[in-house]
Amino acid sequence: MAKSDRTWSPDSTDLDWIESTGRPPHPILVEMEVAAEPERIPILSRDSGRLLAVLAADRRRVVEVGTAIGYSTLWMALALPVGGTITTIDPDRERTDRARGFWRRAGLPDERITVVNAPALEAFAGETAALAGPFDLVFIDALKDEYLAYLTALMDRLAPGAVVVADNVLWSGRTSGSRPARPGDGTEALREFCARVSADPAFEATILPIGDGLLVATLRP
Ligand SMILES: C[S@@+](CC[C@H](N)C(=O)[O-])C[C@H]1O[C@@H](n2cnc3c(N)ncnc32)[C@H](O)[C@@H]1O
Repeated sequence: MAKSDRTWSPDSTDLDWIESTGRPPHPILVEMEVAAEPERIPILSRDSGRLLAVLAADRRRVVEVGTAIGYSTLWMALALPVGGTITTIDPDRERTDRARGFWRRAGLPDERITVVNAPALEAFAGETAALAGPFDLVFIDALKDEYLAYLTALMDRLAPGAVVVADNVLWSGRTSGSRPARPGDGTEALREFCARVSADPAFEATILPIGDGLLVATLRP
């Protein structure tokens, strides 16, 4: 039997093949990808969306930090079981209004997704019922300098076994140092976030080189 080659790593042919094995994305997701590109709205990569959908498929209560036009939200919302809900936070109401339009056109009932229009740390400090938890899936994708503070604010609202996902932890190579960082560009904060979560015995964590890098961590039950 052939052995696997440890020096091998996937190239674009392999990635295209992976994409070809997946179900075609919902047409509204494709529409959002097309809308985001020229406006440079920083949405998740499609393969990261597929992973979020896998993780959301057996979750009940999801919280997302950073909605934009609702692309990552829609990947999760389409995968959630009946009765599953998402609370998503973004201070940019214009973007979240567009998101709501896309979600409606994708056929989602409004009750499935609650939008909180406020900076996340302010929202977590308030009394918003939709942020009370407990949450069994957390997706973090907003200000890089605040990732650790988002997770700290959420710690008491996580259900046992909750999964935490954070996007952009590779930061286009700046976090590892394969590309130069600039002071204040979020790189140091992302290094600190990854180091803290990875070292925290409360979590089992890894970083997947999907899209711009996804940290995935499970809170030990
Ligand atoms: C990378 S985009 C989110 C993309 C989205 N998760 C997706 O993949 O479709 C980051 C979003 O974070 C929002 N944001 C900025 N400051 C924030 C804050 N303090 N709290 C929550 N969201 C914030 C921005 O308005 C922006 O829409």
